[in-house]
Order: sequence, then C-alpha cells, then structure tokens
Amino acid sequence: MKRRTAVLLSGRGSNFRSLLAATQAPGFPAEIVLVLSNVPDAGGLVHAVANGIATAAIDHRAYRGNRAAHEAALIAAMEAAGVELVCLAGYMRKLTPLLVGRYAGRMLNIHPSLLPSFPGLHTHERALTAGVKLHGCTVHLVTDGLDEGPIVAQAAVPVLPGDTPDTLAARVLVQEHLIYPAALAQLALGGSGVTPPPGAALHNPLPVSGPLP
Ligand code: GAR
Repeated sequence: MKRRTAVLLSGRGSNFRSLLAATQAPGFPAEIVLVLSNVPDAGGLVHAVANGIATAAIDHRAYRGNRAAHEAALIAAMEAAGVELVCLAGYMRKLTPLLVGRYAGRMLNIHPSLLPSFPGLHTHERALTAGVKLHGCTVHLVTDGLDEGPIVAQAAVPVLPGDTPDTLAARVLVQEHLIYPAALAQLALGGSGVTPPPGAALHNPLPVSGPLP
C-alpha cells in the first residue's frame, strides 16, 4: 500500500511537481492525495488541480494571527483525507507544536541550504555573502525549531565564480528536485538512510575549494 501523503506549499510548487512525478512512478511507496496551501492563488494548487489531485486553500489571513486555529483546519483536512505523511514544499509559515506534534516523525521539510547553515530566508544571498564554497539543500524531519530536525538527505553544489543568488538558487533547485523524492521514498519505507537517485550530487564530484589567499 502506498503511504497517503499531503503536500503543503505557499508558492509555485516546483518541488511539489517533482514529488508528484516521482510518486506516479510504478512502485513508488507513497502517493500524493492532497495539496494544501495557505495562499489561495499559489501556482502549486493550479498544477495539483490540473493533475486531478484534491486541493484545499486554507488562507491563514482568515484566522487573524491564530496559528493554532489555522493549523487545526489543516489537520482536519488531512485527517479527512487519511493522510499519513506530510511534505512541506515551500510552505512559508512557521509551525506551532500542534502541527509538528501531530505529524512527528512523519513530516518532512526541504530547505535551500546545507543545514544547520543558513536556516530562515534569503539563503542564497547569505551563502554568497559568507563566501562559502559549498552550498546546497537539505531534507529533514520537522521538529519545533525553525528549519531544524534530523537530516534525511542533503545535496551539495559548488559556489562558482560569478554566481548570483539566482544562478545559485537555480543550481540548488535542480538538486532539491532529486533529493526530496528520494527522502520521501525512504520515509515511506520506514528506513533511516537515503539512496541517492541517479544524478543527485549527494557526493559532489566537483572541486569545491580554491587556493588559499
Ligand atoms: C524551495 O527552494 C524550498 O527549498 C524553499 O522554498 C522554495 C519553494 O520552491 N523552502 C524554504 O525556504 C523553507 N524554509 P517551490 O515552490 O518551487 O518548490
């Protein structure tokens, strides 16, 4: 039986699209049964509808800053759909212990940095400012702290001369789309490690450091 999975998103949903494509392959151990968004016009919702996936837009602004009440509505929608696993895919809301606790050990997040470096926003700009030679992305189990929790998968990309936040983000995004389905498969199978799919740069073969000044 495929594990019933919900995706929560706030934006364009490219990670959702990669998850959907992966889950539609025969033998994948999870299926996406629901897409939820706090942003009613999120692009990811449009893609879900176009692909026949159940959706719900639950606008946080209707809850007047009561995060727990908003999350209770999310949980109700997921429970009605029989959701077992949750993937945060560009879901740009801080979570309370209500949602985190309900799906403890069953909820993944993807973050565009090599955690624990650069939690929060503007990760690519901050990586360039810090002068790191390696950047990347992380899939982790969700715990109470922002962008914290046991790491399930990471992919590293080199920071190249002339990189801008946009060029770096684009290179990282390619890896996000590879490691998130792999991490979901691993969670669905109940394992602890991740087998990288072909092309995922979990072990980066490129030179990543320059000469010392
Ligand atoms: C992705 O880069 C994801 O890693 C990031 O938002 C983007 C969503 O893009 N998530 C976070 O920053 C969470 N802290 P997408 O809508 O195209 O998947």
